[in-house]
Amino acid sequence: MADTKKIAVLPGDGIGPEVVAEALKVLKKTEELFGYKFETESGLFGGIAIDERGTPLPQDTLDICKRADAVLLGAVGGPKWDNNSKELRPETGLLGIRKALGLFSNIRPAVIFDCLKEASTLKPEVLEGTDLIVVRELTGGIYFGEKFRRETDNGQEAVDTCVYNVKEVERIVHQAFQIARTRRKKLCSVDKANVLETSRLWRETVNKIAPEYPDVELEHVLVDNCAMQLLRRPSSFDVIVTENMFGDILSDEAAMLTGSIGMLSSASLGEGSFGLYEPVHGSAPDIAGQGIANPIATILSVALMLKLSFGYQEAGDVIENAVKSVLDAGHRTGDIAVDKNKAIGTTAMGDLIVDAMNK
Ligand code: NAI
Ligand code: MG
Repeated sequence: MADTKKIAVLPGDGIGPEVVAEALKVLKKTEELFGYKFETESGLFGGIAIDERGTPLPQDTLDICKRADAVLLGAVGGPKWDNNSKELRPETGLLGIRKALGLFSNIRPAVIFDCLKEASTLKPEVLEGTDLIVVRELTGGIYFGEKFRRETDNGQEAVDTCVYNVKEVERIVHQAFQIARTRRKKLCSVDKANVLETSRLWRETVNKIAPEYPDVELEHVLVDNCAMQLLRRPSSFDVIVTENMFGDILSDEAAMLTGSIGMLSSASLGEGSFGLYEPVHGSAPDIAGQGIANPIATILSVALMLKLSFGYQEAGDVIENAVKSVLDAGHRTGDIAVDKNKAIGTTAMGDLIVDAMNK
C-alpha cells in the first residue's frame, strides 16, 4: 500500500474550477486502479481570493500548499480584476506563490498527438514522434539582474544585467538529468557560450555534472541553433535545459509545435520532489461558465505530477494513453475540433478519459 500523497488544490478563476474538476476525477480513478491514496485540500487563490479575502494569496492557502506534497492549480485572472492595483491582481499571487514555495524551474512538455498533427502549422512528417520537455530556470538571469538607466552624452542609456551562480545552475541541471533518466535519456543544454560569460559558466557546470549521469547522452546547442532545430527536427529532442530568458522563448516556440493551448501542461519544481502543476492556458474568461473548456491540459498536468513528484511513472502513462485513445477515437472539445458542431463539452471529455484509463 502506497503512502498517502497530499495535494493542495487551487481551482482559481474562470475555467479553472471547470478543468480542475475533471482532473480530480482522473486522480480518483488512479486511486482505484493502482491503490494509491491522494488527500486533497482546496484553497482560495487568485481573483476569487481577492473578492473573499482581499488578497490573491491568503496565508491559509499558502499553508495548505506548504503542508502538501504537490499543488494542482487551475488558472487565475479575468477582466474583473484587470484594473486593480498591483497587490490586488491575481497575477501577483502567481509570482508570490512560486517565490514562497521556492520553485526554481518550469517544466513544459510539448507532445504531438498524431491525430492532432493537422492542428499544427508544421508539416506532419516533421512533427511525427515529437515528445520533448523544456526545463527552464526561473529565478535568475537577465530578468532578475540589476537594471537601471543613466544619462550619457548620447542620451539615456538602459542597463540589464545577467547573473548566474554555480549553485543556481547545478540544481536545475541535476533536475534535468534526472528527468531525462525517466525518459529517452537525452539531454540538450542550451546556452550562448560563444558570447556570454553566464553561458560559459553554465556550460562548464553542466560538463562538471555530466559524469554523474553516464547513462544520459548530453549535447550542447547554442540558443539560436536550437530555435532552428526545434522547427527542423523537433522529434530528435528529449529534455532541453536552459536559463530563464532562453527558456521563456524556447518553451513558447516548442508549445506552438503542438497546436492548441488547451492541451499544454506544465510544472514548476523546487528542491526535492515538491512541485506545482498547472495548465499553460489562463482562465479563458471568453468561454468560462459554458462547460466547453478543454480539460486535457489540466489532466496532463496531473499525469506530470504523478511522474515527477510522486514517481508513479506507470499511472502517469495510463493517463497519457487514455487521453491519446480518446483523441484517436475522434472526440474533440471545441478548441481542437475541425467540425465545431460535433464538439463535446468539458465533463464529457473528462468522463471519456476516465473511462479509457486502464492498466
Ligand atoms: P487564456 O489562455 O485564458 O485564453 C486564450 C484563448 O485560448 C482564449 O480564446 C480561450 O478561450 C482559449 N483557451 C484557453 N484555454 C482553453 C481551454 N482549456 N479550452 C479551450 N479554449 C481555451 O489567455 P488570455 O485570454 O490571454 O488570458 C485570460 C486571463 O487569464 C487573463 O486574466 C490572464 O491574466 C490570465 N492568465 C492566467 C494564467 C495562469 O493562471 N497561469 C496564464 C495566462 C493567462
Ligand atoms: Mg512566455
